[in-house]
Amino acid sequence: MRARLEQLRGEGLAQIAAASTAEDLERADLALLGRGGRLTALLREVGALSAERRPEAGRLANEVKGALLAALADRRSALEAAGLTAELTGAGLDPTLPGGPAPAGAAHPVLAVARQLEDLFTSMGFVVWDGPEVETEEHNFDALNIPRDHPARDAQDTIWCVESPGQGRLCLRTHTSPVQIRALRELGAPLRVVAPGRVFRREAQDATHEHTFHQMEGLVVDRGVGVPHMLHAMHTLIAGVFGQPLETRLRPGFFPFVEPGFELDARCPFCTAGCRVCKQSRWIELMPGGLVHPNVLRACGVDPDEYSGYAFGLGLSRIAMLRWGIDDIRWMMSGDLRFLEQFPA
Ligand code: FA5
Repeated sequence: MRARLEQLRGEGLAQIAAASTAEDLERADLALLGRGGRLTALLREVGALSAERRPEAGRLANEVKGALLAALADRRSALEAAGLTAELTGAGLDPTLPGGPAPAGAAHPVLAVARQLEDLFTSMGFVVWDGPEVETEEHNFDALNIPRDHPARDAQDTIWCVESPGQGRLCLRTHTSPVQIRALRELGAPLRVVAPGRVFRREAQDATHEHTFHQMEGLVVDRGVGVPHMLHAMHTLIAGVFGQPLETRLRPGFFPFVEPGFELDARCPFCTAGCRVCKQSRWIELMPGGLVHPNVLRACGVDPDEYSGYAFGLGLSRIAMLRWGIDDIRWMMSGDLRFLEQFPA
């Protein structure tokens, strides 16, 4: 058996080296390693050997198989490289001809909604503000009047990073609200900003919950700002996204950084009998908001006796889902071209 395996190794390697085309090489591959190939037949015989002779023969057979496979791979790349060189240097190639059309990319649905809303809000005098995705505990929680023992700080919700000297604890921001703090400290009052961005939570995923998703924050601080101003901005936003004004309702909602706090629901624009979007409640939860808490203004050096403001936080990923009837939020971060190609520019 040893002699036959060694002979096969020698002949097989020579056959592979002699292959001068891809077809030759395929033929050699089949003749050696295919179902009816020479090595396959020998391997079958090795299996039938006695228990004392089988281990040594098996080891050698595997070694021969490895050598043949490696030689096949080497020869394949050498033939491909030679083919390419021949194509590039041979007659018939005109490198001055224009190439074929490159596939065009398009905006991701979340980016498309964010851009549309940025345009809408900048036309109303807002500036677009940005903040880091790795955020300090102070910006993400403390300055937003979120108490130390608030459940949102739990390991359940927050992805904590290593401590950074001089900055305290760092986390992946759980919402875009820390940009309120950054913008207000940097720009001061009065101001109008929107801040779209990616946020992260330790979340069990399902059709409407992701660990990584997008929000857009809105913040207006000025003299005499109240709930009607907030409602106007929210209604304008809804009409912009859905192409029509929708009936809305306001419910109380609790967020430590606003007082009073609200949840805005909109009449489902997709409603048909058995609607899957609103699950037949005829309302969809769109965005929370409220009047900026005086403690937040104070934390940013703004006098709450002089200024007031409103803030809202929109789930951009959920809005994109509603807008295009996407039934599972997990498509958004999937990077799956079958999904993405359905949103041409
Ligand atoms: C907040 O994140 C507040 N920062 C919003 C806010 C801003 C309130 C300003 C008041 C003033 P909430 O956790 O509810 O709130 O999230 C806001 C929106 O993000 C939700 O309405 C929802 O659309 C979206 N959202 C929340 N969790 C997820 C998730 N796991 N996956 C996808 N979208 C989510």
